[in-house]
Amino acid sequence: MKNESINISYQLLTADELTVEQQRTMASAREAVKTAYSPYSNYQVGAAILMENGAMVQGNNQENAVYPLGLCAERVALFNMGTLYPNIKPIMMALTVASANKPGFPCGSCRQAMVEFSNRYHCNIPLLIESVNDTFLYFENAGQLLPFTFDQSNLSD
Ligand code: THU
Repeated sequence: MKNESINISYQLLTADELTVEQQRTMASAREAVKTAYSPYSNYQVGAAILMENGAMVQGNNQENAVYPLGLCAERVALFNMGTLYPNIKPIMMALTVASANKPGFPCGSCRQAMVEFSNRYHCNIPLLIESVNDTFLYFENAGQLLPFTFDQSNLSD
């Protein structure tokens, strides 16, 4: 038997440690959270993706009376990016939640979607997550959040 482990590294940042790009992307996510449509969960999530051309792509959660139809903020932003900028790389994604007593980590489905977009755009997608008391978690590669990923390489022979 052999024990193995996977290490996930990330930065814990205070607001004054954010780069200008991180500040800009988080500000956009905070703006996006304001128009989340979540009357059923009352949990608002905002996402923003900074693109290499300086453009910002936003997303927020969109719910439905048929609960499973709702979509998370991250995937709204990612699909929006795929529509608007199929040929421009993302620089980073920022995430925030409206009433945070803990960081709003992406759900498993959104992690899977991030991995797909990372492969599709041939780049890491760094992820900045707002935590409590104006502190932040920064992952250089969102894909780290989903080890042992299923992707297109599983499907090819
Ligand atoms: N939600 C997101 O937008 N992103 C996540 O990664 C987790 C959950 C949304 C979906 C739903 O509208 C609400 O939060 C409660 O689950």
